[in-house]
Amino acid sequence: MAAVTTLTFQQRKRAGDKITVLTAYDHPTAKLVDEAGVDAILVGDSMGNTIMGRRDTLSVTVDDILHHTKMVTRAVERCFVIADMPFLSYQVNHEDALRNAGRLVAEGGAHAVKLEGGPDKYGDAITTILKAGVPVMGHIGLTPQSVHQFGGYKVQGRDEASRARLLREAKGLQDLGCFAVVLECMPPDLAEEITKSLFIPTIGIGAGPGCDGQVLVMHDMLGWGTTRFTKTFADVKGIMKQAFEDYVTEVRSGAFPQAEHTYAPKVERVAS
Ligand code: KIV
Repeated sequence: MAAVTTLTFQQRKRAGDKITVLTAYDHPTAKLVDEAGVDAILVGDSMGNTIMGRRDTLSVTVDDILHHTKMVTRAVERCFVIADMPFLSYQVNHEDALRNAGRLVAEGGAHAVKLEGGPDKYGDAITTILKAGVPVMGHIGLTPQSVHQFGGYKVQGRDEASRARLLREAKGLQDLGCFAVVLECMPPDLAEEITKSLFIPTIGIGAGPGCDGQVLVMHDMLGWGTTRFTKTFADVKGIMKQAFEDYVTEVRSGAFPQAEHTYAPKVERVAS
């Protein structure tokens, strides 16, 4: 299978073929995602919630994302790898934004970066990163870094004013040169309207089937999920828990280890 690039995203949109994106944060998991034929891996700041034990994504740092991006990019053969820009890595000024995006690409090996918010706020940061040759994925709707401004993780685009704003933001991100845009947690008809009005692909999460592709947080689809828009594709959480319980039982009972689980080097005896 050929490596996925930004061109693949555009071709898929034109052909009407859906794009698949999953989060991954480590080497063995990224390798499986790559082998399974998923198009792109997002090293998302959702790692704050999923693997770092945080309540939100706000304390995730560039160093955290970089550390995990390195693990992921070492694993992939064909997946396109997008590194998330965490809170305060692009909001302060556009020089900072470029420096941080540059690290994720140069040191981390990412192929692109994603940042949350519309062009009114972050147009300068996006333009500066794009001018340096780094592809940018936009992200609008329920942008988790603004959770406190939203007053919680709430569906966006419910009234006419915010629907119009989201439509305007999506077009603005396209005009700036973003190669794709994530639409998170908005009414499906709005996501479909945005999708139809853009020539760049939309990647939905909790935004219905009318998007050009879907992204899921891996832990959500493997049994750790709590959100309504998640489907548990396999109860990996349950399987892991069962394996840990079986291990405890077998060690305590003496059923493990057996001879075949034991390293027993041949001892050569020297005749005396
Ligand atoms: O960090 C993340 O995983 C994300 C997805 C929810 C799109 O931004």
